[in-house]
Amino acid sequence: MARLSILQLGKGAIGSALVGQVAARRQEVKARLGVDLVYVGIAGRTAGAFAPGGLDLARWRAEVEAGAGLDGRRLLKKASGVVSGSAVLVDATAEDDLVDLYRDVVATGFHIVSCNKKPLAGPLADYRRIKDLCRRKRRFFLHEATVGAGLPVIKTLRDLLDTGDRVVAIEGCFSGTLNYLCAALDRGEKLSRGVARARELGYTEPDPRDDLAGTDVARKALILAREAGLDLEPSDVRQEPFCKVRRRGGVDEFMRSISELDAKMAKRWREAAARGSRWRYVARVDGACRVGLAEVPETGALGRLAGPENVFAFRTERYKDHPLVVAGPGAGAAVTAAGVFADILKVARAIAGTA
Ligand SMILES: NC(=O)c1ccc[n+]([C@@H]2O[C@H](COP(=O)([O-])OP(=O)(O)OC[C@H]3O[C@@H](n4cnc5c(N)ncnc54)[C@H](OP(=O)(O)O)[C@@H]3O)[C@@H](O)[C@H]2O)c1
Repeated sequence: MARLSILQLGKGAIGSALVGQVAARRQEVKARLGVDLVYVGIAGRTAGAFAPGGLDLARWRAEVEAGAGLDGRRLLKKASGVVSGSAVLVDATAEDDLVDLYRDVVATGFHIVSCNKKPLAGPLADYRRIKDLCRRKRRFFLHEATVGAGLPVIKTLRDLLDTGDRVVAIEGCFSGTLNYLCAALDRGEKLSRGVARARELGYTEPDPRDDLAGTDVARKALILAREAGLDLEPSDVRQEPFCKVRRRGGVDEFMRSISELDAKMAKRWREAAARGSRWRYVARVDGACRVGLAEVPETGALGRLAGPENVFAFRTERYKDHPLVVAGPGAGAAVTAAGVFADILKVARAIAGTA
């Protein structure tokens, strides 16, 4: 039986959901693909667990908590000499500074699967460095869940390009969180209540200011643009915020202050409704990238969106009159973890030779 060792950084909302999903499907994957998915390590910022023979997933939290001091970098150091055969690093953090770490693990033979946008949306040179290395070393670097959570967005783009289509523009609402907030404001709810609820539901980024400033959508737009072959820097993305946010202070402090924005946002929404329109946070990737609030008709495709939905409309040479549309819930722990899991299974299938 082939084996795929999994080392995971991040044990928050997405990381925890992923461990649960893999544990629940392990026997089925063994039977259907002939690959055993073995979690050999899980780490957070300050604690982790490592067992080359495989962690007991029924009690992984306790094992991680007992491993104080074993952070992500130490875990990888420990694993790189010991883990043999096929292995994948899963990045379920929201860390910025991981490109060097990615490079080290790929050099030791790991594949990478990630839902973390930041390392893919930094300087272009870093993006190229890691992508080129993975190509040279013939390692997977899969990150479907970085855009649209569990929706097949990057796959669709890749399939279009690989089959010789030419992308003219990708346009739509790329943020489940911001769509959820737009719909809440449409119903007359307060912004502060919507953000608190979106956090409880696991839709927001670890720091919700990344959503509200438009940074999270800007990262997704940049990732899509780069996948489509555009050589853009983060500063090339024209980014207007969903609402003004104060960056000073921590997340809890910000959450306490957010009600200051309620009246202004409610007024903006009421004025749009009086004009028969709604605000939606819209992204467009063509030769360039733009993200920001746009007033759209109440009854149009974007105006009718409600809840944490995403829409990605691909206008291409082949799909020029009617765009190819990928749509559905684009936020939440279960769907995001499933997107990561599907990427792990792509690696597993390749190992099993059934890709
Ligand atoms: N929520 C969504 O719908 C959604 C959709 C698509 C993509 N994502 C992405 O999924 C990622 C995870 O989101 P989340 O909601 O699960 O965040 P979260 O609940 O805040 O969890 C983040 C985890 O990362 C760990 N971590 C931080 N720095 C680390 C490091 N250097 N080494 C190892 N672990 C580290 C944290 O450790 P501690 O436990 O020690 O704090 C925590 O367990 C983010 O990049 C987010 O953008 C989320």
